[in-house]
Amino acid sequence: MEKKVNTNYYSPLRYPGGKNCIFSFVSKLFYENNFIGCSYAEPYAGGAGLALRLLFEGYVNHVYINDLDRSIYSFWLTILNRPEEFCEWISEVEITMKNWHKYKEFQKTAYELDEFELAKSTFFLNRTNVSGVIKGGVIGGQNQTGKYKIDARFNKQDLIERIKRIAELRDRITLTCMDGLTFINKMNRINEEVFIYLDPPYYQKGADLYMNFYSNSDHQKLSRQVLKMKKKWMVSYDNHDFILNLYAQERKILYKLSQAASNRVGDEIIVFSKEINFTESVKALKSPVILNQI
Ligand SMILES: C[S@@+](CC[C@H](N)C(=O)[O-])C[C@H]1O[C@@H](n2cnc3c(N)ncnc32)[C@H](O)[C@@H]1O
Repeated sequence: MEKKVNTNYYSPLRYPGGKNCIFSFVSKLFYENNFIGCSYAEPYAGGAGLALRLLFEGYVNHVYINDLDRSIYSFWLTILNRPEEFCEWISEVEITMKNWHKYKEFQKTAYELDEFELAKSTFFLNRTNVSGVIKGGVIGGQNQTGKYKIDARFNKQDLIERIKRIAELRDRITLTCMDGLTFINKMNRINEEVFIYLDPPYYQKGADLYMNFYSNSDHQKLSRQVLKMKKKWMVSYDNHDFILNLYAQERKILYKLSQAASNRVGDEIIVFSKEINFTESVKALKSPVILNQI
């Protein structure tokens, strides 16, 4: 029997650190700042759960999603351009350890593999690995002796529906595969009202979770660029002094986020550009604390 479909999830990807969970806050922030109907950009889009929900629920007119990871990019490219073929593959593929090993191998040549094949591999591993971590282990373990098995998160019918829905809105989704800094420079110059939400690789756990992660100097370079941006923006991070210092003069919120990748609740921060009001919307976050400038 098929499992019940949760309509709050528009992305077919499970994502470590996925930000669909702050939708309630972000949607209120949009009202508080009259952002409804503007464009929205994510330089580190990953599973793009929040971007898609804002688009599907009418908060934004257009989304720009970017991710440097070719595996992730190939997945989005494929479902936007070849959704029928991809859905056909989903309905036929067997969710077995044999296929898991096959698709795991594909990732080793991610930089040269055909995009459609890479998309299959990324999606297969994302749906069959613990917490969706592409370089992580399979649900149920190699011997499939765990409580949950490899197919526990592979509800084909629901996933096919999500992909078809996204493909219908493809004209309102612009996808790129650039370095985050190049992307924000481009967005900063674009001649339209665009709100930029940056969710870079975590400061502490980035290397375990993503194929591409950031060193201290990368985080530093990013902050210098962000602080110069003319567009309105917001940045989220795991809470760490190093990051707080990079954004020392900006207004920030500390709050609790339930992180699927570790199944624990951790402190996160959101930093805001100068003009953004968040007095009302902040109430939608769990245990929010407004931090003074330091
Ligand atoms: C914290 S995750 C973003 C999660 C996303 N907000 C979501 O809700 O699914 C960070 C993302 O940044 C991507 N990334 C890492 N280095 C990058 C870079 N230099 N430029 C662009 N994207 C990068 C990773 O592939 C990863 O998908």
